[in-house]
Amino acid sequence: MFIVFEGIDGSGKTTIASMVANELKSHGYKIFLTEEPTRTWLGEAVRRGIKEEKNPFTQAFLFFADRAEHIREIKKHIERGEIVICDRYIYSTYAYQGAQLSPSMGLEKALKWLETIYSPIRLDPDVVILLTTSPLRGIGRIKNRERRESFERREFLERVQKIYVYLAEKYGFEIVDSDTSIEAVFEKVKEILRKFDIIP
Ligand code: TYD
Repeated sequence: MFIVFEGIDGSGKTTIASMVANELKSHGYKIFLTEEPTRTWLGEAVRRGIKEEKNPFTQAFLFFADRAEHIREIKKHIERGEIVICDRYIYSTYAYQGAQLSPSMGLEKALKWLETIYSPIRLDPDVVILLTTSPLRGIGRIKNRERRESFERREFLERVQKIYVYLAEKYGFEIVDSDTSIEAVFEKVKEILRKFDIIP
């Protein structure tokens, strides 16, 4: 079983993913909780690429390298019968790099290109949960994590979220509005896990 959480910065993915991991552990499952960018040197290279504002193609390939290794790791855990919970996955690249690349190549072409490069290595999740939030609120939540609070950032995250919502329709994600309390979001997420027969 492979569960993915997606959403813009500050949407609460990381908190919810760890709450879900604890919940599933309490039901006796063995859990592999993981994230992208990863905590490996490849993930560090990705973070450095973001910090140094490398061009979108460079960033896309850094994410690709990190993810190609990560997918192999994820497969190993799934084969062992564990539940893998991943905080961000391929759809982060579609949404963020899609938004970054769209001014130069158009969104449709950018998404098609990204989907093509991932097609040989893609491992499809069983459930993708998209947490949506107003970008302003999201930025407010991460302010303390030394993130830029610029108008451009807000506009950018608005575009990223629009792409996410489009992808949700295309790939059948479950959408949860996270502009409520963490408890309410967690309840909604548990309902989804019940629907998929993951918890009773
Ligand atoms: P994030 O999950 O916020 O990492 P951290 O835990 O270090 O805060 O991811 C870092 C940034 O990278 C975030 O703004 C989203 C972006 N990102 C992409 O642009 N493409 C991707 O494929 C991924 C996984 C993340």
